[in-house]
Amino acid sequence: MSGPGAAGPGQEDLPGSEQGLTSPESGPPERTAEAALRPRRLDEFVGQQVVRDQLSLVLDAAAARGRAPEHMLLSGPPGLGKTTLAMIIAAELSAPLRITSGPAIQHAGDLAAILSSLDEGEVMFIDEIHRLPRPAEEMLYIAMEDFRVDVVVGKGVGATSIPLDLPPFTVVGATTRAGLLPAPLRDRFGFIGHLDFYSPQELREVVRRSAVRLEVDLEDSAGIEVASRSRGTPRIANRLLRRVRDWAQVRGSGRLDLAAAQEALRVYEVDERGLDRLDRAVLAALCGRFDGGPVGLSTLAVAVGEETETVETMVEPYLVREGFLLRTARGRAAAPAAWRHLGLEPPAGEEGTAPMLGRF
Ligand SMILES: Nc1ncnc2c1ncn2[C@@H]1O[C@H](COP(=O)(O)OP(=O)(O)OP(=O)(O)O)[C@@H](O)[C@H]1O
Ligand SMILES: [Mg+2]
Repeated sequence: MSGPGAAGPGQEDLPGSEQGLTSPESGPPERTAEAALRPRRLDEFVGQQVVRDQLSLVLDAAAARGRAPEHMLLSGPPGLGKTTLAMIIAAELSAPLRITSGPAIQHAGDLAAILSSLDEGEVMFIDEIHRLPRPAEEMLYIAMEDFRVDVVVGKGVGATSIPLDLPPFTVVGATTRAGLLPAPLRDRFGFIGHLDFYSPQELREVVRRSAVRLEVDLEDSAGIEVASRSRGTPRIANRLLRRVRDWAQVRGSGRLDLAAAQEALRVYEVDERGLDRLDRAVLAALCGRFDGGPVGLSTLAVAVGEETETVETMVEPYLVREGFLLRTARGRAAAPAAWRHLGLEPPAGEEGTAPMLGRF
């Protein structure tokens, strides 16, 4: 079911992968459902206390000075609230919001067109900013620092560039891969907020609020169950909640109780640690086919029939954080917990694998 034009110019959809229920990314049909559950103000935004405090300081200071705040960068795995925060920033500033993304800007000219039409104080949100083409990136450096854009008029030898002053505005960039951002771009952000996975308690609060918005009757036990199986990710928590609601309405009593939550999650193959089919496929390949590794990321991705980037951004961070997977100097390796999770015995003697780096 890939609707025409769903991916836009940037081809953002994952090739060939049906998005699993616990995939941290959201497909086009889901975005509307998500939009309805997005917190709109900073004080409705659950968790991420550190980033929230820092952000509110930046915003308050800007308000006190009556000026546009400095450019802000939000980084972290998919589904943790970067887009939500960007919208909140604009709302808190009562500023208009312009939304674009790295892949949507194919030429520097696309960016010049947006920049030259910005109003004073406008917030320009650039999603997936690590995917901006190089010439656009260079244009952005100048725009961010000097509030100027060089507009090229004409073509070939007759082309001339006309400098155009821009009103003060604020770039809010979002990236799932902060490591890919070139230093000169990173340095132009006055504030960098890194979002981390949410605790089960925070997700429980996310789910509780979403249930109120969805006008469903959620028992606390069911909320806890959903929260604990959501891979630390609000997007997944909300998605699981909607599937539990489906189950309760179609097969249950309409009430979202523990039994409904457990049954729905069983139907959708989300296990008690929140791992879905792809997560388990990665662990199974690692422990089975590669004897626990270490194995290169791209080899592992091929083994499960996925893009390397999908495994790297959507699967790996949570498996590492939960202590199932280890990043070693020679590749990815299975931790003892991975074997046990699959119902297997970790190999004797080695406690899992060879050189471990930074397991925590
Ligand atoms: N702190 C939060 N409190 C409540 N709900 C949240 C929070 N963060 C995210 N959400 C919910 O999760 C959904 C996904 O968040 P969002 O789209 O902001 O993620 P993202 O970081 O931009 O992901 P991606 O990298 O895939 O673009 C939102 O629609 C919102 O409903
Ligand atoms: Mg986003």
